[in-house]
Amino acid sequence: MPNSFSKTVRHLARLFLPRPMAAPVDMTGRHVIVTGASPGSIGYETARILAGWGAKVVATCVRNVPLMEATLREDLRKRGAGEHNVTAHRLDLSDPDSVNGFATWFRDKHQGRLHVLVNNAGIHRKTLAPRKQPPLAEDGFEIHWRTNYLGAFHLTWVLLPLLQRTGLQSGDARVVNVSSGLHERVGNEDLFDAGPLHEGPLHEGPSQGKPRHGKLRHEEPHHGEPRHEDPRHEDPRHDGPRYHSWDAYGRSKLAMIHMAFEIERRFAESHNLHAMAVHPGVVMTNLTLPPALRGRIGKVLHRISSALTSLVLLSPNAGAQTIVMCASTKSIQGGQYYERCAIGKPSEDCHDADASKRLWDQSEQWVGTLPGLAPTGENTRGHI
Ligand SMILES: NC(=O)c1ccc[n+]([C@@H]2O[C@H](COP(=O)([O-])OP(=O)(O)OC[C@H]3O[C@@H](n4cnc5c(N)ncnc54)[C@H](OP(=O)(O)O)[C@@H]3O)[C@@H](O)[C@H]2O)c1
Repeated sequence: MPNSFSKTVRHLARLFLPRPMAAPVDMTGRHVIVTGASPGSIGYETARILAGWGAKVVATCVRNVPLMEATLREDLRKRGAGEHNVTAHRLDLSDPDSVNGFATWFRDKHQGRLHVLVNNAGIHRKTLAPRKQPPLAEDGFEIHWRTNYLGAFHLTWVLLPLLQRTGLQSGDARVVNVSSGLHERVGNEDLFDAGPLHEGPLHEGPSQGKPRHGKLRHEEPHHGEPRHEDPRHEDPRHDGPRYHSWDAYGRSKLAMIHMAFEIERRFAESHNLHAMAVHPGVVMTNLTLPPALRGRIGKVLHRISSALTSLVLLSPNAGAQTIVMCASTKSIQGGQYYERCAIGKPSEDCHDADASKRLWDQSEQWVGTLPGLAPTGENTRGHI
């Protein structure tokens, strides 16, 4: 059976399986950050559930922080638990000042304790057809790579001392990286074709004038081998590589798995800091809804269609279950990829420890180039 066909059959079969739920855990006294928790999202449900279980949760989003906070509190109040456990804060992962400012604020407000960091925020700017030019973040990186991976890496890196200290003091700190089954679209070679980790800001250095979209060709050989051109990225209409948002999104999600596995390798034994990657399932959120269904008329259409789509897509609450399980369950195994509240099977490339290490080292070097690192209290090189 061809691979893609068997995958489709597997995904379809899952629609008819019962949707697993995480068992409640007392999270009292645990400090948690959930990024990307706007109403209607997976992060929102994650924050709401964990706050309802007693955790002190800081929920973040970019656009409407007061609305997110008010909605979360009202929701928790109605359910009779955790209303005062939630605080909201703005965090834009693609803006280094925002990440550093948030980390400093968090450290001061939470007395340097952080038990669980849920790196959930993510975007997918879908393009239906291949394009020549990728969408870029303000500092010139391909936007999915910048937001979904580099931004999450930066945040994790500046919060590492807090996670490590909390791990040592409490015996249990965690990072939960929200990935996606779409990580399978790409391989490790796509990570290291990614220009951003090798190049300086857009206006400097050898990449001057060129967008850095993760498929730029570099002169140097990869792992000592000549670089092979990947036919998937050849666009007959253009002489340059073509851009697929789905591949770019998948690349950022593959990197999130490597990051989780590398945290486990580096800090599990030394600091009781564990990390997991999660595929939440295919969930009905702003990310999956076409923009046409987001406006006022769209909302009406959405209600009409939701009965049908709920047969195919999970609710945000169902999508949050594996994430909250990884954030809370005592017996969780670090360095694993979870889906449907159980250990899942990521692509083979995720188990390449050299690739994880290389990506970590390069990402760390990149973070070192950012201005104004947050003074989170200790040596931010990952050791306290
Ligand atoms: N939905 C799915 O089927 C599915 C499947 C697999 C994986 N995932 C992953 O699950 C996670 C949550 O997705 P979702 O479906 O809940 O999406 P969503 O409803 O679109 O929520 C995304 C969240 O990320 C925030 N965000 C966007 N840009 C950001 C930035 N630059 N910095 C910080 N936060 C930012 C958004 O804040 P604003 O609202 O303020 O912009 C929002 O709170 C993502 O990592 C996604 O890749 C989703």
